[in-house]
Amino acid sequence: MPILLHTQDLLDVSVVITAGPTREAIDPVRYISNHSSGKMGFAIAEAFAQRGAKVTLISGPVNLATPHNVQRINVVSAQEMYQHAIQSAEQNQIFIGCAAVADYRVEQIAEQKIKKIPGNDEMVLKLVKNRDILATVANLMENRPFVVGFAAETQNVEQYAKDKLQRKNLDMICANDVSGGQVFNSEQNELQLFWQNGQERLALKHKSDLAKQLVDKIIVRYKWKLEESK
Ligand code: PMT
Repeated sequence: MPILLHTQDLLDVSVVITAGPTREAIDPVRYISNHSSGKMGFAIAEAFAQRGAKVTLISGPVNLATPHNVQRINVVSAQEMYQHAIQSAEQNQIFIGCAAVADYRVEQIAEQKIKKIPGNDEMVLKLVKNRDILATVANLMENRPFVVGFAAETQNVEQYAKDKLQRKNLDMICANDVSGGQVFNSEQNELQLFWQNGQERLALKHKSDLAKQLVDKIIVRYKWKLEESK
């Protein structure tokens, strides 16, 4: 019989988490992406699963093992992540957007490898905006889950995070100061959480410990909102 090391107090909670980067193809061999490793999102998925929650993890291309008791959906592009996220969001109670989703994609993906043109020292790529997954989920008219976003900022962290909380209609936002280059792909992180009329700082620690603490905070706000709506 397996020994349960964690309290199974979230057996009645279901959560979807996006994690990692997205890749936006330029041609068959090149893409635009970012430095997200998926570590933060996977740690959150693991922390929820350890407490018995039903966890769906929608992940961009990363090099991480799937945490125990987590259902993983692999995607590559922002458009693919969007499709899976919207479908899953409606069937779950909590949605957490931890992925670093590309804001723009290449309008026309070249079918063949783009070749250098002799004499041309410049090249122009036309980008078009990707739909915002988080904002779409937060504005669902039916079956809207409790929505938690992340904000990775290099300046005006608090102001931009609060702006995203309002503009995207989120229940909570977790702000990352990425100006020092120590959040993406690192083992540790610290977060500043904001919600309507409240905030809290989670001090620097290993992402797995930070994720456990974050799950506690999310559950408190989620249950508070449930009570409020009764
Ligand atoms: O993966 P790690 O290496 O562990 O690093 C963790 C992290 C830094 C990637 C993570 O903690 C983090 O901050 N993720 C969000 C990064 C980001 O892209 O932030 P943003 O400010 O650009 O986006 C704001 C929010 O909108 C995010 O929740 C993002 O998932 C969401 N978004 C953005 C664009 C889009 N088209 N759809 C979205 O849902």
